[in-house]
Amino acid sequence: MINSLLRNRNCDMSDLKFVLIAVLVLAAACSSPQKNERASETSETQENERTTEVAKTTGDPLVGEKIFNQYCVVCHMKDGAGVPGLNPPLIKTEWVNGDKTQLIKIVLNGSQGGQYPVNGETYNGVMTPHNFLSDEEIAGVLTYVRSNFENDSGPVTPEEVAKVRSAGGK
Ligand code: HEC
Repeated sequence: MINSLLRNRNCDMSDLKFVLIAVLVLAAACSSPQKNERASETSETQENERTTEVAKTTGDPLVGEKIFNQYCVVCHMKDGAGVPGLNPPLIKTEWVNGDKTQLIKIVLNGSQGGQYPVNGETYNGVMTPHNFLSDEEIAGVLTYVRSNFENDSGPVTPEEVAKVRSAGGK
């Protein structure tokens, strides 16, 4: 159509205006913002699915960091140093780096009465049970704790958490 208009030397202004409007409408349709919104929604969903997928098979420390900041940080502090006399540190402790079954039990059941002294010091605070967290979330948070705060121990898997949970009835 444009070609025919160009070839037609007798074309008048109203023809040109029509072509211009058609081009503008087309350009607006092509750069529609809806398209971009949909694209970013899709990649967000894909990202969430991927995170969940990884968390199911390994204790994903990225999931764990989120859980830590949501549930543990109030007592054990951002740097895992705890609060003197009240909440123990998570830095290089025998509980964090030792027997995984014991560690999972602490998170599932909570604790009070100074059952978990660190470096000979007992702590009088109360750790509430966290059995409302999923196997993936507990595996993630323990993997995160065991690989941060100067700790260098291996991951905890959701399967290990599931086993302790079913054996403990919680
Ligand atoms: C309301 C405060 C509170 C919250 C929340 C809390 N804890 Fe604790 N935690 C404590 C206290 C107090 C103890 C010591 C209990 C004892 O000695 O009987 C403890 C003990 C521990 C221990 C064993 C001792 C050590 O420091 O190595 C670990 C491991 C632990 N908590 C991890 C966690 C994790 C992981 C979370 C989050 C899922 C969490 N805690 C949430 C207060 C808390």
